[in-house]
Amino acid sequence: MDKIVIEGGRPLKGQIAAGGAKNAALPDIAACLLAGGVHHIYNVPRLRDIETIKGIMARLGVVFKDIENGLYVNASDIKCHEAPYDMVKTMRASILLLGPLLARHGRARISLPGGCAIGARPVNLHLKALAAMGADITLEHGYINARADRLKGTRVFFDIPTVTGTENIMMAATRAEGLTVLKNVAKEPEITDLANMLRSMGAHIEGDGTDVITIEGVKDLSPSEHTVIPDRIETGTFMIATVMTGGDVKITDCRPEHLGVLIEKLESVGAEIKTSDRAIHVKGPKTIESVDIRTLPYPGFPTDLQAQFMALMCIAKGWSMVRETVFENRFMHVSELRRMGADIEINGAQALVRGRKNLIAAPVMATDLRASACLVLAGLVAEGGVTDVHRIYHLDRGYESLEKKFAGLGASIWREKVSPQ
Ligand code: UD1
Repeated sequence: MDKIVIEGGRPLKGQIAAGGAKNAALPDIAACLLAGGVHHIYNVPRLRDIETIKGIMARLGVVFKDIENGLYVNASDIKCHEAPYDMVKTMRASILLLGPLLARHGRARISLPGGCAIGARPVNLHLKALAAMGADITLEHGYINARADRLKGTRVFFDIPTVTGTENIMMAATRAEGLTVLKNVAKEPEITDLANMLRSMGAHIEGDGTDVITIEGVKDLSPSEHTVIPDRIETGTFMIATVMTGGDVKITDCRPEHLGVLIEKLESVGAEIKTSDRAIHVKGPKTIESVDIRTLPYPGFPTDLQAQFMALMCIAKGWSMVRETVFENRFMHVSELRRMGADIEINGAQALVRGRKNLIAAPVMATDLRASACLVLAGLVAEGGVTDVHRIYHLDRGYESLEKKFAGLGASIWREKVSPQ
């Protein structure tokens, strides 16, 4: 097992390119199941979650090859329709295989993802929508068994705008019979990225990026050439780290329009931010001011940046309120931040952060993906020694060589092997 070691106190400086978005690449790769033949997907990040979905799909019969800056995906021969527990348990997004598998193969058996560190995260809305499209769904021995000769278009209202739920049903509907109308859908940029890929395969989709998506089903789809959008969460993490360290960083190959609310919040804390078509230039202030945030579905403040923003508020002047409305139990990083001297009080879904002048280096343990990033950020500014961030396999699920990227910007940070006790 690896840990990340950080000697805090150096401002980040320089230029860095954003990588491809994990949360877009996952549904894009799953969508390859919808059409036989060879797909080419570019700007795919090298992450553990991507390896997980490739592993499960390889078991289904899909062939993957690395190509320059991308992935060759041959989904011609699907010989199995099961995603087993030992693979699904490491990544909830495996549920994304359900819709496309059912639409193409007429059958799917996927392990129920179960709970996870940041809350119960059920998949009831995915299943309800597929049942409304005519799928016969049973739950047995911890598995979802789904069957449908051909799914039928219908109207679906999502009680909550679920991201992977919207993606799953959008994929299923591309090959369904007739018109599917999805209401109260998620509007995240990753939804539009998937819709663009599906359109390039011949799907008839309209309304992505709004509350209502309509899909007119077609009998067949063809393989895709698609480039994954830049990762707005990785970009946002670089931005927050720059502000925390009082640095000066230009992030290239990103999409400023996907980060509107974060840009506003960072300006409110005193940062200077300049955007152009595909770049964001951030300069950290001398004094970081406090500001409240409330996580919400897109275009609101992303829950995936809540932990990192809280690390920033730990060293701001004054008090701030961080409200988490998307997931219950997404404050696992708080007890670790407290070990670094942070003053945070939790009351249900709200955290009151009393800013301090500094954080203190300490050994800490990552509990989930974004909590790990928050601890690395805290380590970048911590005083009085080195911060060891343990259990960074969580970090590797969603950040590609984060320590190398920060080291390239001047941070004193490296990875070390931890010998088993
Ligand atoms: C996706 C992202 C994740 C991000 C989250 C919210 C991927 C691979 N992951 O996760 O990084 O944090 O969106 O932006 O894209 N819910 C139900 N029933 C369902 C589905 C969801 O009650 O059937 C609830 C969840 O418990 C949660 C809320 O809806 O409270 C939103 O979750 P959802 O958008 O589904 O998150 P994911 O798609 O799992």
